[in-house]
Amino acid sequence: MNMRIDIISLHPGLLEGPFQHSIVKRAIDKGLASVFVHDLRNYGLGKHRQVDDYPFGGGAGMVMRIEPVHQLIQELQSQRDYDEIIYTAPDGELLNQPLANQLSMKGNLIILCGHYKGIDERIRQYLVTREISIGNYVLSGGELAAAVIADAIIRLIPGVLGDESSALTDSFQAGLVDAPVYTRPANYQGWEVPEVLLSGHQARIDTWRHEEALARTQKRRPDLLSS
Ligand code: ADE
Repeated sequence: MNMRIDIISLHPGLLEGPFQHSIVKRAIDKGLASVFVHDLRNYGLGKHRQVDDYPFGGGAGMVMRIEPVHQLIQELQSQRDYDEIIYTAPDGELLNQPLANQLSMKGNLIILCGHYKGIDERIRQYLVTREISIGNYVLSGGELAAAVIADAIIRLIPGVLGDESSALTDSFQAGLVDAPVYTRPANYQGWEVPEVLLSGHQARIDTWRHEEALARTQKRRPDLLSS
């Protein structure tokens, strides 16, 4: 399976780094995912490649125009079908692990990055199928949100993580945060690793990890247990 993500952006430079490292890069190199970043400016109107305009009714800030977005989306849709056209916005549905899981099972996605003041509402009304926020704070644009969404999705595609079980034991996947992990040295200047992890008894280790995960979730993220 190859998931394809097309990202529509006015600041494509912001998206140069995130897909060139680590797990996401490996997924792309393995042919399990592909990411294309499209510069919306290339679809701008007239000599100045205009992509935004003053809001009807007045007020501060510029609003992204429909035509460049629609033209680019139509061009992409003429080449393949898309499962979702996602718009990044602070008033969208909050990204969480179940939503990332759901999106990782899709084939082709478009992510339209939000813009300063906003985009013409008709883009949201007629073109966008899903609106996602990555948290209750306002970013200066949707690019970083698009990178976060793409990263959370791509790592879940089967075959991306070397150890197939490793995404399944992630924090949040089981509704719990992770148990703490340790590596060598077992004793660093008197800072010790819990004895049980050195015991070699796998069943005891598994029980300890589960208890730690539960206790940590209760202490740090009780909201995960109440839902
Ligand atoms: N654009 C601006 N803020 C955002 C947020 N929190 N999530 C997604 N897109 C955004």
